[in-house]
Amino acid sequence: MIRVQDLSKHYGAKPVLDIDALDLPKGGVAAIIGPNGAGKSTLLSLISRLDTPSAGSVLLDGDDIRSLKSDALARRLAVLRQDNALTARLTVRDLVAFGRYPYSRGRLTATDQAKVDEALGLVGLDGFEDRFLDELSGGQRQRAFIALVLAQDTDYALFDEPLNSLDINHAVAVMRLLRRAADELGKTVVVVLHDLNFAARHADHVIAMQAGRVVHTGTVPEVIRAELLKPLYGMDINVSTIDGRLIVDVFG
Ligand SMILES: Nc1ncnc2c1ncn2[C@@H]1O[C@H](COP(=O)(O)OP(=O)(O)OP(=O)(O)O)[C@@H](O)[C@H]1O
Ligand SMILES: [Mg+2]
Repeated sequence: MIRVQDLSKHYGAKPVLDIDALDLPKGGVAAIIGPNGAGKSTLLSLISRLDTPSAGSVLLDGDDIRSLKSDALARRLAVLRQDNALTARLTVRDLVAFGRYPYSRGRLTATDQAKVDEALGLVGLDGFEDRFLDELSGGQRQRAFIALVLAQDTDYALFDEPLNSLDINHAVAVMRLLRRAADELGKTVVVVLHDLNFAARHADHVIAMQAGRVVHTGTVPEVIRAELLKPLYGMDINVSTIDGRLIVDVFG
């Protein structure tokens, strides 16, 4: 379980995150939703120690993440950032191999190689191993970064808008992949999503954020409800059930 306690982040006097308590249960897929600027990426950065909080703590299966060595944390939790600005000229294989660094420190074993190949296969990038990242399309590059997280083979995997730049086919494939990681491998997947239909279809839990706070948490039917989503986004939103599936319609 990831436990967030009294966590806050300020930039100068400006508070951008303020969460009294939030538990992300072990196992399953949790979707974080909410408008631009709600604090979703800030929360993921604090949970993964990419950023330091102004106050409060994050516990990973009972361990305060501040007490963990970098390698130990990286063997337990991996994160895909929202902006993967990377200037180095790397091949796809070199990038994904970084996911094995916490285990092998750069000397890849046969197991590491196999994990890299497996991750590349899972995102459908076999055959692209030797391409440089700047020779890929935006969606292919995004999938290479998803493969990097998968290769890290951690119990907890956090993804900040992993569907960015993906066509609908690959978006569905990535969500199914995350679902399988949870169902078959027992991983805990936390994913920031803007597409509420993807959240409704593929997540177990939904965390709704607004103005730096968690405003709703619960199962999909508990949170994906028009009366909660309308004020969250300030829009006319309709939620219906078709063949047992929740469908979110947005009227612009
Ligand atoms: N370095 C910074 N300095 C000042 N304010 C910042 C900084 N980084 C983020 N913020 C502010 O923190 C708030 C939360 O940002 P965050 O990136 O967590 O939002 P988000 O929910 O991920 O939004 P999006 O959907 O656009 O990705 C925003 O108001 C943003 O402007
Ligand atoms: Mg963000």
